[in-house]
Parts: sequence; structure tokens; C-alpha cells
Amino acid sequence: MTISKNQESYVFQCKISETPAQVIGGKGTRITVEKDGKVYEDILDGVTGAAVGALGWGDEYMVGVVTDAVKSSTYSYPSLMGNKESEELAKFYIDHSPKGTFASALWCCSGSEANENCMKIMYQYWLERGKTKKTKFISRMTSYHGFTIGALSLSENARADDFRPILLPKTQCLKMPVCYPYRFQKKGQTEAEYVQELLDALEKLIVDNDPETIISVTVETLPGSSLGTVPPPKGYLPGIRALCNKYDILMHLDEVMCGTGRSNPNGGLNCWENFMPLDQGPDLQTVGKTLGSGYATIAGVLVSPKVRNAYINGSNQVLGAHTYSSHAFNCKVALGVQKKLIGNGLTKNIFEMGNLMGKTLKEKLLSEDNIVGDVRGIGGFWSIELVKDRETKAVFDPKLDLGHRLHGICFQNGLNVMGMQGCVNQQTNEGDFITLAPSFIITKDDVDEIVKRAVKSVNDLTAALKKEGEF
Ligand SMILES: Cc1ncc(COP(=O)(O)O)c(C=O)c1O
Repeated sequence: MTISKNQESYVFQCKISETPAQVIGGKGTRITVEKDGKVYEDILDGVTGAAVGALGWGDEYMVGVVTDAVKSSTYSYPSLMGNKESEELAKFYIDHSPKGTFASALWCCSGSEANENCMKIMYQYWLERGKTKKTKFISRMTSYHGFTIGALSLSENARADDFRPILLPKTQCLKMPVCYPYRFQKKGQTEAEYVQELLDALEKLIVDNDPETIISVTVETLPGSSLGTVPPPKGYLPGIRALCNKYDILMHLDEVMCGTGRSNPNGGLNCWENFMPLDQGPDLQTVGKTLGSGYATIAGVLVSPKVRNAYINGSNQVLGAHTYSSHAFNCKVALGVQKKLIGNGLTKNIFEMGNLMGKTLKEKLLSEDNIVGDVRGIGGFWSIELVKDRETKAVFDPKLDLGHRLHGICFQNGLNVMGMQGCVNQQTNEGDFITLAPSFIITKDDVDEIVKRAVKSVNDLTAALKKEGEF
């Protein structure tokens, strides 16, 4: 066995042999990053990790919250003993959601784990109702729900394809068409007609596969890393809700990336409140990311009264428990985060400031001759899709890897974003975009600065591609 004397990185992630850029500090909306031996100060954090850091970094109030949580927390194993912190956090989330939507919550440590748990909770729901034939999940093309085996089976993208042989069979994880009006709403087709086409396709999938065997329909309310923040068109989510009711199927919304205050129109928590009547929410919802805002590793599954009651009228038992489910420290820290976000009007702030950011980006980027085809999103979650030709929406050669290249240029211009590929075709990796998800504390000045740095970066890349003969 040879041990490299000059081993650069000891962490088994990303490019194993290379030390990645390292964040070495942060305050508010700014981070300090060490990259290739150089320290970059004052990087404006436009994406807060991966849409995580709602409170901003180094928040002094959190010092008190975390200290209290350490002092008061005693670890308890969930299947033997509960704790007050997990109860309080569950009650807080339920109370800050539309009345009657949720009745219970399970807390775990990551979005993948939340979706994994959700799949089992949904399957057991049908067992509790004596419906043992229900064994199939429906989710969507070009989607991401996490990197564990179950969550990856629900997902459909190049990352999932790499693991196809060890995922749940495709016959058990059925996929409905992606909802992506910018690309797939045909010329001359109205929004209502496009929505109907998608709903007809879902209904056909349900009927063709025997509704009696379908457990659930899962969608990301505002899809993030796979598709780039495409808001669902009017009537789409209510239409899915109606089909789930018609065929007695559970509706599961994945709000791990878009939820918990990132894009709520009412100063609250849930993204779906933009798109669905408040009394017709999902049966289950998974959340994560901004729940702990990076100060604690926490995610969860929110359960409707309907699901909770079926369990109570059945075995009254959730099968299985993870060691760190309902972790008291994590729950207390998350509750502290949420109290500040809502109490200080920060969920309202990000909805207003985020929409201002999106509107200004749209105006500036789409009025110039550049590589931007679409600017889309809502609240604190926006994406910029790149095209070779704005008229035909032609994509760039995936070999150019422009999402990641633009990410690099943004960094050089002092803006941290997420660059991605594959939104148009997950097999060929066609379709480049960058995503923005700043912290909820951003001010008008921050918005101006994000827009300035993003526009400069797009212009830099446009000029470079012109020089290279690619645009
Ligand atoms: C919609 C969605 N679901 C689930 C996950 C997985 O969450 P985690 O990375 O915390 O496991 C992600 C992560 O980006 C996500 O965007």
C-alpha cells in the first residue's frame, strides 16, 4: 500500500485528490473563501451553499440559541423516549402552515433522508388502510430528490442514471413528463392547454398502471437543481391534487430546496401557497435546508391529518426509527432559526427582495444581446438559463459545460452561485443554467450588487464565447 506523502485532501468528496475551494469564514451575506492558495474576501453569497443559509452567516443571535441548545439537550433514542424540542418544532411548523394542512412531523438529518422516510411512511399509510397492492411511486422526469437509493429512484437525471442498476425498478418508480413551459409549451398552445396536456399524461400513467397499485405522486413544488426554478403554471399543482383525490393516491410535495420560507407569498413557510388553494395542500411534504439554515443538520417529513389519522386508526405505530431522528439539539436550533426568520419578517423580506432581484435580472439580461434565454423563479429562488440563440432556444454544446464555467466567472467577480447542466436533456447533459438563492436578510443594496455582479459575469462569458466563435 502506498500512502501519498503529498496528499492534498483527506475528505472523500467531489474530486478526491484535489482540495476544493474552502470557505473559511462568513458574516451576513458575505463569505471568505480560500481557493488554490489564494484568499478571496467579500464574496457575495448568492446561493448560500445550496439554498440553505436563510439567516446569513455568523449570526450573533444564533450564538445564544446554540449555547442554550447545548446546555439543555440530552440525547434520547426516538423509539424509547421523546423530547420537548422536537414537539415544539413540529407544533411551530404546523401552526405556521395553513390551518388543517399538517398534523405531525418527523425530524431527520438531511433532505435525502426525509424523502427516504417519506416513501416508507407513504407505503405504510396504505398498509394501515389494508391496501397491500399499493407498491408504485410516481414522480417526474428531470427531477432531484436526494442521493440515497430510494430518493434517487424517485429522481430522474444523469446523476440517477449512473446508479440505475441498483435503484428501484422503473416499473415501480414511474415517471410523468417534466413541467417546463419555457421549453415544452408548444407555439400557439395556451398555458391552460399545456397544463391539461401534462395532467392528461399523468392520468394516463395512473390508469395504465392500475390506480389501485399507485402509492403517491411526488413533485418538487419549485424544482431546483435539476431544472432551475421553473414555477409551476397556473392550475398544474391543483390539477395533480385533483387527480390524486380522484384515484385515491397520496400527493407528496418535495420542498427541501424551495420551502421553509424561501418562496412564501404570505410571510410563512410553504412554497406551494403560491400555487395551490390554502385548504388543498399536500398529504405529505418534505423539508430541509433553510430549516436549520446551516446551523444544524435537520430536515423533516410533514404529515397531514389524513395520514396521521389512518395510522392512529390502524397500528398507531411508525415502523422504524433512526438514531438521530427528533434530535433535540437540532430541533432547538432549527426552532431558534425559524422564530427569528418569521419574527423579524425575514420570510417576507426574501419574497420581496428576491422578486426584485429576479425582475431586475430579467430586465437587464433579456434586453441585451447575450447568452441568456430565460430568467425564472419566485421569491428567493431564481435561475438564469443559457442559450446559443434566444429565438430558437438552441442549447450550447454540453462539452462547453457553460453552467459550471459561468459559476467560475461569477466567483471571479465576487458572486457565489450554483452552476448546473442537463435541464433540457438529462441524458446528453444539454441545457446550462445558474441558480441564485441568497439569504433572507438581503437588502436592496445586496440585490443591486448581486445583479451587478451577475450581469457582469454573463457579459464576460458572452464576450469570451464570441471570441471563441461559439456565440
Ligand atoms: C428537491 C430536493 N430534494 C431533496 C434533496 C436532498 O437533500 P440533501 O442534500 O439534504 O440530502 C435536495 C438537495 O438538493 C433537493 O433539492
